[in-house]
Amino acid sequence: MTERVRTAVLISGRGSNMVALLRAAAAPSFPAEIVVVISNRPDAPGLPLARDAGAEALAIDQRPFGRDRRAHEAAIHAALVARDVRLVCLAGYMRLLTPFLVGAWDGRMINIHPSLLPAFPGLHTHARALQAGVKLHGCTVHWVTEQMDEGPVIAQAAVPVLPGDTEESLAARVLAQEHALYPLALRVAAGAAAVPADAAAYMRNPLAAGQGGP
Ligand code: GRF
Repeated sequence: MTERVRTAVLISGRGSNMVALLRAAAAPSFPAEIVVVISNRPDAPGLPLARDAGAEALAIDQRPFGRDRRAHEAAIHAALVARDVRLVCLAGYMRLLTPFLVGAWDGRMINIHPSLLPAFPGLHTHARALQAGVKLHGCTVHWVTEQMDEGPVIAQAAVPVLPGDTEESLAARVLAQEHALYPLALRVAAGAAAVPADAAAYMRNPLAAGQGGP
């Protein structure tokens, strides 16, 4: 069997997407292996869930670093490198990244966002979708770039917005899709991560590499 891609999951909270990734990666045939889960918050409910699933779970508390986000990211980066991580999944990681970490993991970091990007980047996506009166909503997994929620899309799943929906009911419908979508997208990303870094960057965005296009 070809080697599985050593993958980390970064969380800040409940970690339900992380659990979905851990479940999928429990199958030996899955192309990615989750080697560590890291939270910027020591009290994240997802950390004990990761340990229960047999994963290494680590808190790298942001508080001792104060406003120095880059120094906090440097500690995360060191933990990733020490474990020979090749791919990073952001799963409800609620801290804006600086160009340092994004640059260090260019073409090797993916994120799940609860909307059909490019619609509704940022926070409170379900409330905003209801407010806008859209009939379709959903979730997106994308490569992480410096612009928040703007990287190349790997996969999306759509759900209907139903009459009488509340923020909670819509969020629950989307979340069920997130749990199916993220493992699927990780499969795709692991395929891209299995090739050298420069080739991965080329594959994920051929237009940026000056190929194709009108
Ligand atoms: C999810 O809705 C995800 O799309 C967003 O943050 C939420 C995290 O939920 N980025 P969980 O921690 O995975 O349960």
